[in-house]
Amino acid sequence: MTASTLADNLRFLRALVARPKNVGAVFPSGPALARAIARQIDPLQDGPVLELGPGTGVVTAAILERGVAPERLTLVEFDENFARHNTARFPGVHVIQGDAFNLEHTLLGRPHLPFCAIVSGLPLLNFPVAMRRRLMDGVLTRLAPGAPFIQFSYGTQAPVAPPPGFRVTRAAMVWINIPPARVWVYRRA
Ligand SMILES: C[S@@+](CC[C@H](N)C(=O)[O-])C[C@H]1O[C@@H](n2cnc3c(N)ncnc32)[C@H](O)[C@@H]1O
Repeated sequence: MTASTLADNLRFLRALVARPKNVGAVFPSGPALARAIARQIDPLQDGPVLELGPGTGVVTAAILERGVAPERLTLVEFDENFARHNTARFPGVHVIQGDAFNLEHTLLGRPHLPFCAIVSGLPLLNFPVAMRRRLMDGVLTRLAPGAPFIQFSYGTQAPVAPPPGFRVTRAAMVWINIPPARVWVYRRA
């Protein structure tokens, strides 16, 4: 384990102790899961990309490696320390410290371009179904036609049922993650 991975794991653990429900995992996602999530994004598709709940930035790094330019990427992170860490770690990426469940307020003042992909690391299963649906409404109305909403979870079922007009598919199962995780992709049907 490199020194920066160890530092990230400690940062994550501190946040977990402070706000267990919001952090919702013992470790950040592993590199295989991060790559499986980033693979769902077509880097050649024009438009901005939004990541909700980036934590220490493992998935962010994979999205950038996938070929998304930093200026196209906006992160929304609730935790002040993670937000500060990602601002320093990813020059050029827009980092907003705010609430992903209230995107109307959090993205206020940003250009109203639809996103060509939205990625979420939020621990949705820790939130009541009504909040998960609110999140979905906020996300799906901000997607460009045909664009994916990508969510990972540790559960066997998609964490939210797709609303009418949308479908969800299991895009990847990553056994070597701790714990094993599934990648779900929601799109307009
Ligand atoms: C399970 S961790 C995932 C972190 C990272 N994406 C990863 O895969 O390692 C959940 C992240 O969502 C963030 N989070 C939780 N509730 C949030 C909210 N309402 N708005 C924005 N971020 C939130 C947490 O602070 C944490 O960084």
